[in-house]
Order: sequence, then C-alpha cells, then structure tokens
Amino acid sequence: MPLATPDFEFLQHLVAKRSGNVIAPRQQQMIEQRLQKVLVSTGLDNVDTLMTELKGTRGHTLQDRVAEAITVNETSFYRDAHLFQAMRTYFIPEAMQRNAATRTIRIWCAAGSSGQEPYSMAMVLRDHFPQLDRWNVDILVTDLSEEMLERSRNGIYSQLEVNRGLPARDLVRFFDRRGSRWQVKSELRSMLRHQRLNLIDPFPPIHAVDIVLIRNVLIYFDQPTRQSILNRIGKVLTPNGHLFIGSAETMIGMNLPYERKVIDGTVCYQT
Ligand SMILES: C[S@@+](CC[C@H](N)C(=O)[O-])C[C@H]1O[C@@H](n2cnc3c(N)ncnc32)[C@H](O)[C@@H]1O
Repeated sequence: MPLATPDFEFLQHLVAKRSGNVIAPRQQQMIEQRLQKVLVSTGLDNVDTLMTELKGTRGHTLQDRVAEAITVNETSFYRDAHLFQAMRTYFIPEAMQRNAATRTIRIWCAAGSSGQEPYSMAMVLRDHFPQLDRWNVDILVTDLSEEMLERSRNGIYSQLEVNRGLPARDLVRFFDRRGSRWQVKSELRSMLRHQRLNLIDPFPPIHAVDIVLIRNVLIYFDQPTRQSILNRIGKVLTPNGHLFIGSAETMIGMNLPYERKVIDGTVCYQT
C-alpha cells in the first residue's frame, strides 16, 4: 500500500535531519521499497507499526536505521575510469614525490558505499606502485551506512557487481572465488580502514589526507550542506593535496576556498 502523504513527509523530514539527504516526491516508491527492507531486518509487522515506532520518543536508533536504509548506494569498480588512470599517471606519483620524506600516503573515500571505489584505488596502488610496499599507505573508508561499511569490509561481490567495471585481469589477480561470488583478497582488504561517519556532523579527528574522494554523494544534499561539507573537508586536506568530486557534481555557485584544475583529463580541486 502506498505511504500516506503525512507519513511520506515525516520520512522526508527524518531523512533530512539524520543524513542531510533531500528526498524528492518522485522517490516515494524507492522509499517504500527501502521500508520493506527495514521491516525484514527489524522484524516489525508492517509499515504502520514502523511509523508508530519512528514517531515515538524511543525511536532514535530506528530513525538512524531508516535514514541509512534510504541512502542511494549505487557504485561500481573504476567508476569514471579516467580518474583512476590519472591516479596512476599523475596524482599518486605526485603525492609520493611530496611525501618522500615521510613515506606515507593518506587517502580518504568519504562516501565509500560497498567498497568498489576504495578497492579500485587499492588495486591501482598495488598494481602500479610496488615500491609502496615499504610505505605507510592509509585508505580511510567512511560512510553513513553500517550495512555498506560491512559489505566493504567483507569485500564480497556478486558476478553482476564484478562485471561492472572490473577488468578480467584484476578479477583474476585480486579476487578469490566464493561459490557464485567473489571476495577481494586479504592483501587488499587489509589496506582499507573503515569508520562510520555522517558527513553532516562535525568530523571526528582525521589525520591530514593527501587525496580525498567525495564522489556522487554531494548531489543528495542541499547547497548549504554541500558547502559546509566541502569547507570542512578543505581543512582536512594537506597543503597541495587533491580533492575529487563526482563527474556530475560541481562547486559552481558556492563560496569555497578551492581552485579547480584539470590534470590528465581529470577535474580536481586544491585549497
Ligand atoms: C551513490 S553512493 C557513492 C559511492 C561512491 N563514492 C561512488 O561514487 O561510486 C553514495 C554513498 O553516500 C552515502 N551517504 C549518504 N549520505 C551520507 C552522509 N550524510 N554521510 C556519509 N555518507 C553518506 C550513502 O550511504 C552511499 O553509500
């Protein structure tokens, strides 16, 4: 049964407050599907019971769970392949040159979803920069969704998921077969560090990072929220570090301390 308008509006408000994501009326069907998933995981009987619980004073944990369930987690390996190509040709060599003294590279995937993006970074590093074996390489993966973080930690993907963007040679080199699915080898899994982080909240202490990927998540926030997140990320970026946003995202119209550059065909931002 479709959600009643007041319930849909309540959920729009709840999601805006908990994750900052703006839900458009045309997404009502998606919300209804996600609520069904919450019913299964909570064991609640039906949407009416769920709505009553959510509106109750003890519903905070459940509210977070619903807000997390209502995120869009769409992702794929090597999404925007030119970015990973440019990591190989320019951004990683540049960071290695800059950090030769400390032999440390820090990367932050700030909305890592189920892990395809950070594992794509890890594969580039392993494949093309064997000398990094003797470096301290830190890939921090954060997301709002515990479920996505868990998927990323486990690194297990269906055939359909590995068919999306992953070259056969990487599948052979970096994955083990697990029945009908594929698991990222532990040598790559151990390169990632996972942490739940809600981008709309004040950030916990984060060590200055050389490369930040915050891709295909800004579109879900309103303009002031986007601006606040990007401002705070600027403070975490090392001097001369690089920030990357999604190919459909822009900083146009925002008052931000970044300079836009195009390097090896890839847009990046520096403070
Ligand atoms: C569409 S995915 C993008 C994944 C990946 N960066 C990519 O480009 O393929 C968006 C991710 O942002 C996360 N997200 C949404 N709102 C968030 C918030 N307030 N804080 C942290 N992560 C959030 C979602 O859980 C989801 O995993």
